[in-house]
Amino acid sequence: MDTTAFEAMERDGWADPSIAKYYADAFSNATRLVGQELASAVGSSPGMHVLDLCSGHGAVAAELVARGAEVTGLDFSPAMVSLAEAAVPDAIFIQGDAMAMAFADASFDAVTIGFGVPHFPDPAKGLAEAARVLKAGCPIAFSIWYGAGSDSAFAWLFEAFGKHGDTSVAVPEGPDAHQLVDRGLADKMVSAAGFANVVVSDVPSEIWVAEPEDLFDIFYKGAVRAAERFSGQTSDVRAAVRLDLANRTRSEGRKDDGGWFVPAPSVIVRGTRR
Ligand SMILES: C[S@@+](CC[C@H](N)C(=O)[O-])C[C@H]1O[C@@H](n2cnc3c(N)ncnc32)[C@H](O)[C@@H]1O
Repeated sequence: MDTTAFEAMERDGWADPSIAKYYADAFSNATRLVGQELASAVGSSPGMHVLDLCSGHGAVAAELVARGAEVTGLDFSPAMVSLAEAAVPDAIFIQGDAMAMAFADASFDAVTIGFGVPHFPDPAKGLAEAARVLKAGCPIAFSIWYGAGSDSAFAWLFEAFGKHGDTSVAVPEGPDAHQLVDRGLADKMVSAAGFANVVVSDVPSEIWVAEPEDLFDIFYKGAVRAAERFSGQTSDVRAAVRLDLANRTRSEGRKDDGGWFVPAPSVIVRGTRR
């Protein structure tokens, strides 16, 4: 698969300050919870030096720091690095590409990756690069959203696009963003990247929206791949998908806290560097 266009789309998209901020705010309910789970999964504690890859706005770094670890975050988006520096002043954030890092081999005591692996042009290569900078016997933990076929807002989006979208409009080709929720595939890929004791566990998190009509905008304004897909569709398609997601939020979401909670479950994949 030629992922040149996909790589450019990801890099340019996340560099957009408005997408970075929209993501940080819109997904915060889920990313905070998953950040806590990732920090626990690697046993974040004082004296540990943890590398948080694809650190984004600092949701995972904040939880690692709260448990006393020394944290280095790495993200290729300058907009995300700025948000993270403001949110987590006790961590260090570096702009860089997780697929090819400047760190020496065996530099860190743990690696976390909150919802970053789905953006890698080559997830197997990205995981091998994470293994390279991790000391032997030390843990990695990363999260992946459930996608099509699950009880998830991401699945609702796929289903609505299937009903209303024009599938003939091309988008840059990249790896399946949700493939590693598959236990067998995760075990195979993570083991091949240099890890042992691979365990996949479910995290039943939710996204919060003020209004049901906002759910579409979370994906359209706060994510890169979905924004690319829907910017190539007509305004009628976008309106139909927005209405579809709003209706599902009203019928399947949970009204609380002045808005609506919709399901956005994920998995955490944990392994130990061989
Ligand atoms: C969906 S956000 C996740 C942010 C945060 N970790 C969280 O848990 O919410 C994905 C992040 O990965 C970053 N990213 C994607 N591919 C990357 C790469 N190859 N190298 C470094 N950062 C990357 C993006 O800039 C973005 O900040």
